[in-house]
Amino acid sequence: MSLVSEIQRRRTFAIISHPDAGKTTLTEKLLLFGGAIHVAGAVKSNKIKKTATSDWMEIEKQRGISVATSVMGFEYRDYKINILDTPGHQDFAEDTYRTLTAVDSVIIVVDTAKGVEAQTRKLMEVCRMRNTPVMIFVNKMDREGKDAFDLLDELEAELKINVRPLSWPINQGFSFKGVYNIYKDNLELYTPNKQMVSETVKVDVNGVELDKLVGDDDAAKLREDLELINGVYSEFDVNKYLAGELAPVFFGSALNTFGVKELLDCFVEIAPSPRPVETPERVIDPYEEAFTGFIFKIHANMDPNHRSCIAFVKICSGKFERNVNYRHVRHGKMMRFSAPTAFMAQKKETVDEAYAGDIVGLPDTGTFKIGDTLTSGEILQFKGIPSFSPEMFKYIENADPMKTKQLEKGINQLMDEGVAQLFVNQFNNRKIIGTVGQLQFEVIQYRLLHEYGAQCRWEPINLYKACWIESDDATELENFKKRKSQFMAVDKDGRDVFLADSGYVLQMAQNDFKNIRFHFSSEF
Ligand code: G4P
Repeated sequence: MSLVSEIQRRRTFAIISHPDAGKTTLTEKLLLFGGAIHVAGAVKSNKIKKTATSDWMEIEKQRGISVATSVMGFEYRDYKINILDTPGHQDFAEDTYRTLTAVDSVIIVVDTAKGVEAQTRKLMEVCRMRNTPVMIFVNKMDREGKDAFDLLDELEAELKINVRPLSWPINQGFSFKGVYNIYKDNLELYTPNKQMVSETVKVDVNGVELDKLVGDDDAAKLREDLELINGVYSEFDVNKYLAGELAPVFFGSALNTFGVKELLDCFVEIAPSPRPVETPERVIDPYEEAFTGFIFKIHANMDPNHRSCIAFVKICSGKFERNVNYRHVRHGKMMRFSAPTAFMAQKKETVDEAYAGDIVGLPDTGTFKIGDTLTSGEILQFKGIPSFSPEMFKYIENADPMKTKQLEKGINQLMDEGVAQLFVNQFNNRKIIGTVGQLQFEVIQYRLLHEYGAQCRWEPINLYKACWIESDDATELENFKKRKSQFMAVDKDGRDVFLADSGYVLQMAQNDFKNIRFHFSSEF
């Protein structure tokens, strides 16, 4: 197969949802259709259960699972599909943000009863920043939930994106009868089944057949609903979807394997293959012969007997080959990889070649940093992977003065791996670690001790937000830094960060210094 057709048939995406909406179940059903697994129940959730927050061994076990399921590749029809897994636990949200930089599209799973939940809203913001095309799957239609029209309004309002239903439910909960597939113009009748696909029939919505299949009342209601949909929503425009402006919506029940095949069939047909990526140097076209890629995730091996990490590379252009020399742009040196791994179903295997859109895992012993670029030789740098203003902050202190060097090294490496963010207060030189959740502090403390032999202690700091600041007005910027000297820090790249101790202080600063831009993400 030619390079072009290999790349064109690739679909690399992530499924995102609030915990418990059904991401794991949907992933598993997609793998089932791809023949990558044969029975339901084979995919283990990488969810870190709420009860496990203080049980490190449990976290470790679950992280072990998440290495195996980091990327799941499979073939479906003529397509090569790569699903990138995202951690379920919200304390690892930063990991998810980074994964979103490596996908070409996203499927959002929403629970019909719960609607849009906090984490989905946040993840959608990241998709919006990058105009990532999104498709929405409304799950658990076998349970009572919100009215479908109300839910569509909620999706539009909460996710700030136009939506267009491409399938429509006939009732839900106990009286759920199926969905009408607007995209393909056929009716799927619901039969609860965890392993098999339900029956699909081609019916004329206006014919008597429909009444026979679902009953007069529901047939009339469906006709009415479809008329309303056609009146309210304009024709589905695939270009708007690809531009990240319009999200097609499907209804179903992942647990009952219902509505999933329809989602997958539409997905492979309309979801984008790898797209051009902008770099400060030039736009990289995926079909260029020369290989380029970047590291979006580094997974530490928690087993003390196998200390190495896996660095995950998203291939942005061309073909990656085993044992070929590639340039590690930040280090300025050529490297070759004798054991790159690819991920098929839930197996990791050594690969000889991979194409734009694919993810390969490279064994790493500290050579890579999140965001590093690899190329066939050209010097270019993919744009940084965004960091978001953390939610929680603590001072990190050395608890074992004999191990100062180890602590320093450990902190730096963990930050390169993207475990959390480090800010150094310029006033007192103290180090502040920012995370999105409590669990990350525990992870850091544990790993510093077990991997570096260093001990740390956390001390409280009262901070509301850390925001990156910049200005075209150098004098005003200097004035600001002087006025706020106690609250100025630098991030790991030496950029100015303002540490606001309350929302009020931040607002006042924004009012008083109109020429300063305050950013809540490091990508600006
Ligand atoms: P997540 O990865 O998004 O966190 O969700 P996951 O797939 O683990 O699903 C969360 C719970 O919702 C699971 O139940 C799962 O069985 C259930 N579920 C998923 N899809 C559907 C659906 O279409 N209908 C219904 N009724 N339930 C669904 P659990 O009891 O937490 O786990 P388990 O013991 O079943 O594994």
